[in-house]
Amino acid sequence: MISLIVGTHRPGSNSAKVACHVAQVYAALGEPLAVIDLAQFPPDAFSAGAFGQKSAAVEAAANTVLQSSGLVVIAPEYNGSYPGALKAFIDLLPFPIAFERRPVCFVGIAAGEWGGLRTVEHLQGVFGYRNAHVYPDRIFVPGIYSKLGADGSITDTALVGRIERQAAGFIRFVRSLLPAPSIDRTGVCSWSLQPGSAVELLERLSGTGVRALQLHLDPLRESGAAWSGVAQLCAARGVRILSGMMTCLGEDYASLDTIRVTGGVVPDGTWEQNLRNFGANARLAVALGIKLVTLHAGFLPHDESDPAFAKLLARIAAVADLFASHGLSIAFETGQEDAPSLASFMTRLNRANAGVNFDPANMILYDKGDPVAALRTLAPWIRQVHLKDANRTRIPGTWGEEVVVGTGEVDWPSFFRALRDIDFRGHLCFEREAGNQRMADLEAARRFIADLKY
Ligand SMILES: Cc1cc2nc3c(=O)[nH]c(=O)nc-3n(C[C@H](O)[C@H](O)[C@H](O)COP(=O)(O)O)c2cc1C
Repeated sequence: MISLIVGTHRPGSNSAKVACHVAQVYAALGEPLAVIDLAQFPPDAFSAGAFGQKSAAVEAAANTVLQSSGLVVIAPEYNGSYPGALKAFIDLLPFPIAFERRPVCFVGIAAGEWGGLRTVEHLQGVFGYRNAHVYPDRIFVPGIYSKLGADGSITDTALVGRIERQAAGFIRFVRSLLPAPSIDRTGVCSWSLQPGSAVELLERLSGTGVRALQLHLDPLRESGAAWSGVAQLCAARGVRILSGMMTCLGEDYASLDTIRVTGGVVPDGTWEQNLRNFGANARLAVALGIKLVTLHAGFLPHDESDPAFAKLLARIAAVADLFASHGLSIAFETGQEDAPSLASFMTRLNRANAGVNFDPANMILYDKGDPVAALRTLAPWIRQVHLKDANRTRIPGTWGEEVVVGTGEVDWPSFFRALRDIDFRGHLCFEREAGNQRMADLEAARRFIADLKY
């Protein structure tokens, strides 16, 4: 999806009229387009208080920007630059991800003869600073009042042609820049390497050929000495910490039945202590500069009338809110329920900072449906992906078998095509939880994904 930003909130603006025409051109080219019109925002959207508490309209527009594969900015010339409202909107967007590597193209509008040249060049400075990919073919519209009919339509056929050429070219540009989920966005789950200390973790990681980690936070909390300085060690070796992971107390993975009773935040006996541990983990995550922490929430009841449903929903909401209070996102592992059930649970949860860590192997291990179809169903919530493979069980009610990535039942080419289709921009972490040659298995997984054609 491409988004179009109308860069002024002046009522009845000519920029909005040009935007209408541009939207029609994208529609005719079959490209979905979302329009963000600053004139539709409430009056307090750009007040000083907006830095603390964004209006729902700005929040929704920010989410639209984050989900966009490209941005079209139509901005008028105001006093030799672009409107203050547009700058105020930009300043409210999340830093640094809003424009980072995002393709953008510009249309400048002006009453005067310079056609918004200064407007666009000033915007290019800002978008360049924020690492956007600027499409080189810009449009400048001088003498705008002579180019619009009484009904707001564009009467200048040359301008219509320029808009059509820019739109077709920009769509090609966006497609060529779509960030394919590739090997440079991968990490390794630290627990897969079974390290006893930070030093051991980094030694073992170096054997996998991957230079980034999802870090298990509980050992840092429980045995500080072995893990002290992990952030400095990672930095010294050029290893990035992509996210954190935490577990709940007393989980017993011996069988599907034991994990159903003991997994995640389900047991009453451990809930209070789990919550305290989560709080400590959240503080650790903040100290490490981590933004996302994942966990297994446990088996979610499917029936909303089941009293266990309301209890679990309240607990998971409490965990999400705890992490939100630290400025953190949280993601729940997939697999213990089918994708439609998890999607409806996430809809009921309705927390902006809560999402899903998608694990295709878990869908197979727990026999919960086709991972590729599940990925598409859960697309709006996916924050991170685990790269893990498995074979389905032949005995109902038992686990499947986890195997080295590329040797199991996950259809990896289809899986990566689906990731590209949903425009997934997060990280992908290799996970291996079986076998006793973890480094070699993770290395093989890395090579398999690096060579994958899809
Ligand atoms: C506050 C303000 C400042 C403006 N400054 C300029 C300017 O520096 N150069 C220019 O050519 N037109 C200038 N204009 C005229 C706009 O370019 C013109 O109104 C045009 O329709 C685009 O703005 P709109 O989308 O608000 O209609 C200005 C208009 C406003 C409202």
